[in-house]
Amino acid sequence: MRKLLPLLSTNPHGGGRSALTCRFRCGDACFHEVPNTSDNEYVGDVIAGALSRRSMMRAAAVVTVATAAGTSLAVGNAPAAQAASQARPHTPGRTEGARGLRFSPVAPNTADQVTVPAGYAQSVVIRWGEPILRGAPAFDADKQTAAAQAGQFGYNNDFLSLLPLRGEHGRQVLVANHEYTDEILMFKGYDSENPTREQVEIAWAAHGLSVVVVQEEHRSGKLTPVTRHPLNRRLHTTSEFELTGPAAGSPLLRTSADPSGRKVLGTLNNCAGGTTPWGTTLHGEENFNQYFANGSSPTDKRYGIGSGATERKWERFDRRFDLKQEPNEAHRQGWVVELDPYDPDSTPKKRTALGRFKHEAAQPRLTEDGRPVVYMGDDERFDYFYKFVSSKRMKKGNSRAAREHNLTLLDEGTLYVAKLTGDTPQDIDGTGKLPADGEFDGSGQWIPLATGDVSHVPGMTAEEVYVFTRLAGDKVGATKMDRPEDVEPSPRTGRVYVALTNNTNRGKGTNPGADEANPRNLNKHGQILELAEHWDDPASDGFAWRLFLVAGDPNDPATYYSGFPKEKVSPISCPDNVAFDPYGNLWISTDGNQLGSHDGLFGVATQGERRGELKQFLTVPKGAETCGPIIQDRRVVVAVQHPGEIDGASVEKPASVWPDGPGRLVRPSVVAVWRRDGRDIGV
Ligand code: FEO
Ligand code: CA
Ligand code: CA
Repeated sequence: MRKLLPLLSTNPHGGGRSALTCRFRCGDACFHEVPNTSDNEYVGDVIAGALSRRSMMRAAAVVTVATAAGTSLAVGNAPAAQAASQARPHTPGRTEGARGLRFSPVAPNTADQVTVPAGYAQSVVIRWGEPILRGAPAFDADKQTAAAQAGQFGYNNDFLSLLPLRGEHGRQVLVANHEYTDEILMFKGYDSENPTREQVEIAWAAHGLSVVVVQEEHRSGKLTPVTRHPLNRRLHTTSEFELTGPAAGSPLLRTSADPSGRKVLGTLNNCAGGTTPWGTTLHGEENFNQYFANGSSPTDKRYGIGSGATERKWERFDRRFDLKQEPNEAHRQGWVVELDPYDPDSTPKKRTALGRFKHEAAQPRLTEDGRPVVYMGDDERFDYFYKFVSSKRMKKGNSRAAREHNLTLLDEGTLYVAKLTGDTPQDIDGTGKLPADGEFDGSGQWIPLATGDVSHVPGMTAEEVYVFTRLAGDKVGATKMDRPEDVEPSPRTGRVYVALTNNTNRGKGTNPGADEANPRNLNKHGQILELAEHWDDPASDGFAWRLFLVAGDPNDPATYYSGFPKEKVSPISCPDNVAFDPYGNLWISTDGNQLGSHDGLFGVATQGERRGELKQFLTVPKGAETCGPIIQDRRVVVAVQHPGEIDGASVEKPASVWPDGPGRLVRPSVVAVWRRDGRDIGV
């Protein structure tokens, strides 16, 4: 009998992500109205003629610079794109490619395992529940306690960072986000209407961050955790965090438990993040809205906070999750957290200067004079893309004074939001057909929102801009994007890559229609935007942009792989996290593949004649998403998030047997992949 695919017609993601994932990860964000109902203009409304003469001249200057560097950011490749529309099926087995990408691509598949290229090996680095702190017990699903979980690796690993550890040969410091819990897959017989206090407290302890030192194996890419290392650390829903920067102490951030407006318990829904040049990690608090009950204000609504009970019912066990009792508590989540993993006694900071929204990621780079610039996406349909430019310079070196100074860099500066204007708006018809000039491209403006205590947004104080940043973006007419997720500047070219995962509401009902940066209505597969700051200056107030990839089946004419022949690329859908390898190739992990394959990790050349040649490196098990990719010379590390998260699955009825086989609990885990012959990845 033909098996019906459940929920395909009702899942607004179109079937790529399970309803269970929607429910626990983002609080069913896509089932609700789009929170951005502001009527600010979007790209399609703006004609190229509205560009100021100054910004046109600047954009022209950028084109010249980019051309001199190799590949023009404004010149299209229409003939190649036309050839690509006659794509043939994907043929695996090729090992040529750009340096760093010379491996046989993994074919799309639905195997319940991590599938890697021929000649590569893999192993689990660490699983949910493995003890990392002194005194923490071995994982026992039937006897799990909150106290045990607080000393063990958390659930649903997402962003990963590996930092060097001086003086300890062959060791690195792994920092991981634990975005959310899926109680149905964690607890036997879980009753979602009546969670117990113990279950809730385990979930609190399974959220947050982990720091765990890992040991490299000689002559392979294998990593194993060093349990009880003094740097190992867990931070979770009841750990102390400090609000810093211009909004810290604001009346908007004060609660009855914290009249100072500076001390917060917990970090929630940490999705992607970044690693700073001064050796700290940044962690985006993403779908924090779903943890708060009884929202009532218009600002609660703009952030997607519901007016009733929450999925996990935490409000029954701690009044701070009930906004009727603590209306400001939700203002204390939705920030970028900065953690110093080298100081296990430090209090991590929530940096208010970087604004409050559903922070997906925060990726820093430095200006020529050493000031950090942080790029950030707000992962919601029709929300915005931001950057922060610090006013302070990073101090080099590892002295105590330098470290103390560098831990203040993200407290002073200017927060901007992006506005994008297409150069051929008349050619955008919502189908994804390339414009006559051969590219989805145009210019962009960084609109300042606030600098320190000074607001640049009429009608809002600086504190309001930081706490209600989405509303500030609405007022200044920022561009409504297709879910801006992870962002990564290329260490080679300085160009910035923004993953826009999808937006099936684009052009639907009263929602905005396609524009040149978001060129497909009912966008199921997403796109990657490439941005070049004017004068190559990260602190610039303007940029040029074009789409680098328009994802989907290469046989679909509404896809674009930078003009590379599409019969030679792997199909990709729903780009989410991005990272660079040592050779300047962009690596992309996916969330919610809509082409019938499991999610995976891909590498793509960004320069030279192979620019746009995308190759799949791995796929993940059933129900899982690929997160946190790190590409080192010797190894690729990924977080396998929510394996087995398929509608109808439970502890008793698992949908996946990964990573430990039948009869064992499905466990989100970090995986390392390396070459069997001991050589570097992809050379
Ligand atoms: Fe946590 Fe936007 O994915
Ligand atoms: Ca164009
Ligand atoms: Ca993500």
